[in-house]
Amino acid sequence: SRATITLDRDFTIGEVPRRLFGSFVEHMGRCVYTGIYEPGHPESDERGFRQDVLKLVKELGATVIRYPGGNFVSGYNWEDGVGPVSERPRRLDGAWHTVETNAFGLHEFVEWSKEAGTEIMEAINLGTRGVNEARELVEYANHPGGTALSDRRIANGAKDPFDIKLWCLGNELDGPWQIGHKTADEYGRLAQEAGKAMRFVDPTIELVAVGSSNSGMPTFGSWEHTVLSHAYDEVDYMSMHAYYQEHDGDAESFLASAVDMDYFIESVTATADAVRAKRKAKKYINLSFDEWNVWYQRGLTTDDQPSAVSQSWREHPRLIEDAYNVTDAVVVGTLLNSLLRHGDRVSIANQAQLVNVIAPIRSEENGPAWKQTIFWPFARMAALAKGQILRAAVTSDRIETAQFGDADLVDVSATYDEASGRVALFLANRGLEEPAEVDVALRGFAGARVVRAELLEVPEGGSRYTANTLDAQDAVGLVPLEGVTVDGSSAKLSLPALSWAV
Ligand code: AHR
Repeated sequence: SRATITLDRDFTIGEVPRRLFGSFVEHMGRCVYTGIYEPGHPESDERGFRQDVLKLVKELGATVIRYPGGNFVSGYNWEDGVGPVSERPRRLDGAWHTVETNAFGLHEFVEWSKEAGTEIMEAINLGTRGVNEARELVEYANHPGGTALSDRRIANGAKDPFDIKLWCLGNELDGPWQIGHKTADEYGRLAQEAGKAMRFVDPTIELVAVGSSNSGMPTFGSWEHTVLSHAYDEVDYMSMHAYYQEHDGDAESFLASAVDMDYFIESVTATADAVRAKRKAKKYINLSFDEWNVWYQRGLTTDDQPSAVSQSWREHPRLIEDAYNVTDAVVVGTLLNSLLRHGDRVSIANQAQLVNVIAPIRSEENGPAWKQTIFWPFARMAALAKGQILRAAVTSDRIETAQFGDADLVDVSATYDEASGRVALFLANRGLEEPAEVDVALRGFAGARVVRAELLEVPEGGSRYTANTLDAQDAVGLVPLEGVTVDGSSAKLSLPALSWAV
């Protein structure tokens, strides 16, 4: 198959939002406990932070991390996670049917984030709690001192305010599964009042309103419209969540998942702008795609998928530890392309989650940590997508899919960084059988040469199901993409069947 791409240094979409390369740490399964935090592990420091995991987190290059949930946050009391650890209560977490020890809480996450070099995106509980607890948490975290709550933070060991800028006003409250599920009107008013009260405490914070849990929700579209009709002035971003998986061996549709992501982003943008027009507002509401990934929720393709909810009340059970294969990595590459192509309106995005729970990083209790296949497209894009997003003009052969209609066989995004003079081109070949021959016209990039070209493909002797497991931690990685040529103002390359490249 064939594709032609034209990149022009003057045809730009906007600056790459660095918060696009976010991740997510939820108190779920083994993301926190035996993920980022495991006292007594040989690789852990005196605070219990696993240094082997931290090293991988830094290599992944995540910029901002959402915490502490997820469904978990809708039943969480932040006060349980501060103060002397020995005095913290053990609680039942109804969302995941888990015993929460609270050994890890806000102070620990702030410390861990400093070491990881990541910004905090703090979610508040608007499931079982309300306006008062929301503003109290902002005061505890961000007020310098001299009040009961800020002095409590200081007494708990943190003299300096945490200065958390980014706050999520709850999680998935449109979902009947959520503790404290609400109608759009109920939530819209609550978000408005909680946001207002939080801003009274710290006017510098940025606020994310809960959007639809996925584009298939019965209330999708009207939820966003109603919530923003109430809270437009108080919030800055509308949140979105989406998980994709292969159904019944339909790999073509799965590989075209980014078509749905494009549709979802464009629909929420249109809805937010419709409310803007009606209100005659000046400001824009941008998007926070704060949960996205591949997640095998049904029709599982690996044989040992645990259920999403623990069967008994236990501490940190194994939950949704999906083992990602080559196909999943290519899909993740296309989802990242979709986010980057919409970087003028998607300001924040968080891959869910960071460690063990549907994650690019895996770790075993008292054992090693390693990279899943999906680690690679994320890490490379986080490192190389810099400067301006280019409006790539693409003409590609197409594939037909049962779920998402027609899609380009070759999926693309690109950036140009004036400071370093580098273009980064991210490509995926969705074709399962054939290589794709790609011609790239480079306008305004005189004297271009190839600095580096890398590829993720089915490894020799493997299949599209090959994954990185405890016993084969490096089965899938990046290899050099051979044979890329640049001649004057055009480049040529060949993408093997089912591959991702940069
Ligand atoms: O990331 C796993 C779960 O998916 C989150 O807790 C929830 O917000 C979503 O449904």
